Amino acid sequence: MTTAPIAIIGTGIAGLSAAQALTKAGCAVHLFDKSRGPGGRASSKRSDFGSLDLGAQYFTARDRRFVNQLQQWQAQGLVAEWSPTLYTANGNGLNLSPDEQVRWVGTPRMGAIGRELAKDLQTVYSCRIVEVFRGKEYWHLLDAENQSHGPFSHVICAVPAPQATALLSAAPKLAAVAAGVKMDPTWAVALCFEQPLDTDLEGCFVQNSPLDWLAANRSKPGRDGNGDTWVLHASSEWSRQHIDLSKEAVIDHLHGAFAELVNCPMPAPAMSVAHRWLYARPAGNHEWGALADADLGLYVCGDWCLSGRVEGAWLSGQEAARKLLEHLE
Ligand code: FAD
Ligand code: NAI
Repeated sequence: MTTAPIAIIGTGIAGLSAAQALTKAGCAVHLFDKSRGPGGRASSKRSDFGSLDLGAQYFTARDRRFVNQLQQWQAQGLVAEWSPTLYTANGNGLNLSPDEQVRWVGTPRMGAIGRELAKDLQTVYSCRIVEVFRGKEYWHLLDAENQSHGPFSHVICAVPAPQATALLSAAPKLAAVAAGVKMDPTWAVALCFEQPLDTDLEGCFVQNSPLDWLAANRSKPGRDGNGDTWVLHASSEWSRQHIDLSKEAVIDHLHGAFAELVNCPMPAPAMSVAHRWLYARPAGNHEWGALADADLGLYVCGDWCLSGRVEGAWLSGQEAARKLLEHLE
């Protein structure tokens, strides 16, 4: 359909969603990601105790198009419903907080979705793009190793807003919109215990604490590995205030907050991991769908163009592809 392939920077859910829609329409796409694998903030980390969902924990589906996609993923065995015993904690102890919300997780790990979506796509990993520039007719990308990639007919930037800003110097208006989006950090910690903790809590929304969320990884469907693994997320505020703390100190703090909160005997973890997500969530929601300078051939998508959720990322990728295809017609 196009004379040169389309470049997509970022293999998170948004970039992969755009890639799927474009491939389906017969376009050739080439993807680039600075990480070693796909999935972005919805990826999982392997450990001796099984895989750990350190980023996105679960997702909900409110838009019909995403519901349809989820049904397909469910039929492929890529996702399953997760119905945790939910609690809230607000400084006055734990309270059961059941609800009717359907929640989904990737199986056997969150990262399985990205792996499957990226499976047949031409992707270069461990490749940080530092510049997007236009030659006479086509687009080219420059990576951090000074290698040039291209030519491309169009470019889709599917990265968090602060990272997109740096790549959009060829389209100052798009760069200015991205620059106006603040994204908050999240410190994530996983603790692995050899024996299960004595609690029925499987997920907890936390307030008035350094923590914001905690989950029993083993309560999710299809999880592999041994031991009892817990994922703790610090609040945006705590994460911002402790952004440069060492991983060891973050683990100590959040482990302490967790022990105080769950109120059950807590042995020392057999393994602990910390990960700092610098651009974890947009400070607010937007209704942009995706950004475009169609005359230039530059498109931008990501959760921050809609809601800072897996569903928002997927819908934004679809919207970037739709806008691009519309302009090709
Ligand atoms: P990303 O996943 O960030 O993908 C962007 C990709 O671009 C990354 O792979 C990155 O490596 C790559 N990249 C960036 N810059 C460059 C560059 N210069 N060159 C090359 N590659 C680059 N959502 C929910 O729905 N439910 C939840 O429970 C939930 N919990 C969360 C918990 C945490 C701790 C975090 C961090 C996020 C959570 N989210 C949750 C949000 C959800 O993960 C995101 O909304 C979604 O995954 C974002 O997808 P994306 O494709 O827009 O961006
Ligand atoms: P959702 O509908 O389950 O939750 C939305 C919000 O509603 C929750 O954050 C919580 O405050 C509240 N809530 C939901 N169920 C509750 C219950 N049973 N009891 C008490 N409060 C309840 O999921 P949705 O809308 O898909 O949101 C995704 C989740 O991802 C949110 O929890 C959000 O905080 C989290 N997220 C975390 C990020 C991070 O960096 N830590 C980044 C992006 C999203």
